[in-house]
Amino acid sequence: MTAQTPDSPTSPAPGTAEQLLRPHAEQAFAAELAALAAADDRPRPPRWALSPWAVATYLLGGTLPGGHVITPKYVGPRRLVEVAVATLATDRALLLLGVPGTAKTWVSEHLAAAVSGSSTLLVQGTAGTAEEAVRYGWNYARLLAEGPSPAALVPSPVMTAMREGRLARVEELTRIPSDVQDALITVLSEKVLPVPELGTEVQAVQGFNVIATANDRDRGVNELSSALRRRFNTVVLPLPASFEDEVDIVSRRVESMGRALALPELPAAAEEIRRVVTVFRELRAGATSDGRTSLKSPSGTLSTAEAISVVTAGLALAAHFGDGVLRAGDVAAGIVGAVVRDPVTDRVAWTEYLEVVARERDGWGDFYRACREVSG
Ligand SMILES: Nc1ncnc2c1ncn2[C@@H]1O[C@H](COP(=O)(O)OP(=O)(O)OP(=O)(O)O)[C@@H](O)[C@H]1O
Ligand SMILES: [Mg+2]
Repeated sequence: MTAQTPDSPTSPAPGTAEQLLRPHAEQAFAAELAALAAADDRPRPPRWALSPWAVATYLLGGTLPGGHVITPKYVGPRRLVEVAVATLATDRALLLLGVPGTAKTWVSEHLAAAVSGSSTLLVQGTAGTAEEAVRYGWNYARLLAEGPSPAALVPSPVMTAMREGRLARVEELTRIPSDVQDALITVLSEKVLPVPELGTEVQAVQGFNVIATANDRDRGVNELSSALRRRFNTVVLPLPASFEDEVDIVSRRVESMGRALALPELPAAAEEIRRVVTVFRELRAGATSDGRTSLKSPSGTLSTAEAISVVTAGLALAAHFGDGVLRAGDVAAGIVGAVVRDPVTDRVAWTEYLEVVARERDGWGDFYRACREVSG
């Protein structure tokens, strides 16, 4: 017997996808993408790694003729995914719009991975995003030494995508200052990026397109100009339609995040997941699921993404400090933290929920007590 070292033979070699805290979609699902490419005999748009049908199958899941199972990445209306994929095959760009936590970023990453084989040509939109992030910048040492030259130019992800005929992603488009947003207009309408300093331009190669995401709630931070909006087809991603859909999404993501974080395996978290989703959906809707009691809605978004974090955090508590079973007490603190964002108004809504709904509900006694304890 040899002693277990941190790098025991069972842990994957450093640098492999399994050891990364968060591998890119194309790394995490390389096997599925390869199986799809092998089975895919439909026409592919220029430079697409897969046909539009195979891209949609990658996102929505399915079983290939050879029996290879493709896991669903996105749970939602098939038509939305088809519209999104079809848009990318046209000369219009794709804008994914929705409230926080509706998988806009997630869908954008998977689309880029499936269509272009990589999801890394990314512009992260913030109030400080400068034009260089959308067009190009300079390596100042070379610029000073040699003057403007192709070697001194530092391409943006968008420029690289144009040259190579791939998808570029722009996250949080409406957070980008409007003059910087405008730099995208020429790119999207003329498919060209002029470089006046060098007297040249970069013309987009077939296969180039842009996927942008924007948040419904941020509207007004930097409104999309109508000129830019016309260059996009908008697909609005909805909140999960049914309770069961949302439970399905949370269960899948919690399982894969638990694996990525190497949390000890815990059995049967299903009950607590259903409870977290119930609380989130009822508070979001402002009514209990039987429609009998109306409730105050708290100010937070209570998104699916937050439900996923609450359960994952609960699993860590249960695994490291509990008895190995996810219990009400492990999710209570997370739920209260997600619900009570504003210490005054949200607390009122939360107390009402606890006393009127949780306290009276069959089988919720443990949850009620645990929440009372952390709510103080
Ligand atoms: N319908 C869904 N199908 C699959 N996963 C979903 C769905 N809705 C939410 N998720 C999960 O929620 C998590 C958060 O999604 P993501 O970060 O993409 O949200 P977002 O819409 O970009 O939010 P934000 O506006 O805050 O940027 C992801 O892990 C994703 O798996
Ligand atoms: Mg996002």
